[in-house]
Amino acid sequence: VPVKGEVEFVHVDFGYSAHHPILHDISVLAQPGQKIAFVGATGAGKTTITNLINRFYDIQKGQILLDGIDIQLFAKKDLRRSLGIVLQDTHLFTGTIKDNIRFGKEDASMEEVIQAAKLANAHSFIERLPNGYETIITNDGASLSQGQRQLIAIARTAIIDPPVLILDEATSSIDTRTERLIEKGMDALMEGRTVFVIAHRLSTIQNADTIVVLEKGRIMEEGSHQQLLQKKGMYYQLHEGMFELS
Ligand SMILES: Nc1ncnc2c1ncn2[C@@H]1O[C@H](COP(=O)(O)OP(=O)(O)O)[C@@H](O)[C@H]1O
Ligand SMILES: [Mg+2]
Repeated sequence: VPVKGEVEFVHVDFGYSAHHPILHDISVLAQPGQKIAFVGATGAGKTTITNLINRFYDIQKGQILLDGIDIQLFAKKDLRRSLGIVLQDTHLFTGTIKDNIRFGKEDASMEEVIQAAKLANAHSFIERLPNGYETIITNDGASLSQGQRQLIAIARTAIIDPPVLILDEATSSIDTRTERLIEKGMDALMEGRTVFVIAHRLSTIQNADTIVVLEKGRIMEEGSHQQLLQKKGMYYQLHEGMFELS
């Protein structure tokens, strides 16, 4: 049965070790196709929350549901087939760019590879390489820029066409031009999917269906950009630049 992409956290508590709780009573609902943006300072728990959806770790209390079904009941393989993940660090393996893009769908045709690369905004730089899609990547992509590796990561996720997407928008140490390509690629990738995004761009935050403001592993505020601005609470202060996002 194809996954529709409803994701719900129900009163989730989590700690990396049993004696050291990190997340407290997290409840969030993402309807299919909705964008949930997490904001908060370093250490607030943004990465931890997103790592729970793919079951890198199991939770201590509460439930995480995918289409109403506890994710513990999915085989990890099936669960991860429904999830696309784009993080800051992408690991590429030694092989062609083509094979790196079709990593999650080994039987993908050349046409599908190109289509995914176009969506990701990676096609034009790949095409300019002397060997194009047949270019061999070695040493974790050391011959490519960090931004180019990230474009490949977006293409790699696009080809899987997952109903649920987990994104970390941080684009540190990337030149502005590539950053704009990445942003456009990520926007295209988000289209039509349920997205949990660790948001750094104002446009992503403002366009989110729900913004979740985290502090020390707790949800402090939750709502749309307009709702949270009107509240004149933490989000308002963030937005006014009284303190910083990370
Ligand atoms: N693998 C880990 N093992 C133990 N503690 C961790 C681990 N990853 C993160 N933490 C702790 O969990 C808390 C939340 O971190 P994190 O989810 O990375 O926050 P954010 O992404 O918002 O910066 C922090 O106190 C951090 O030190
Ligand atoms: Mg983080």
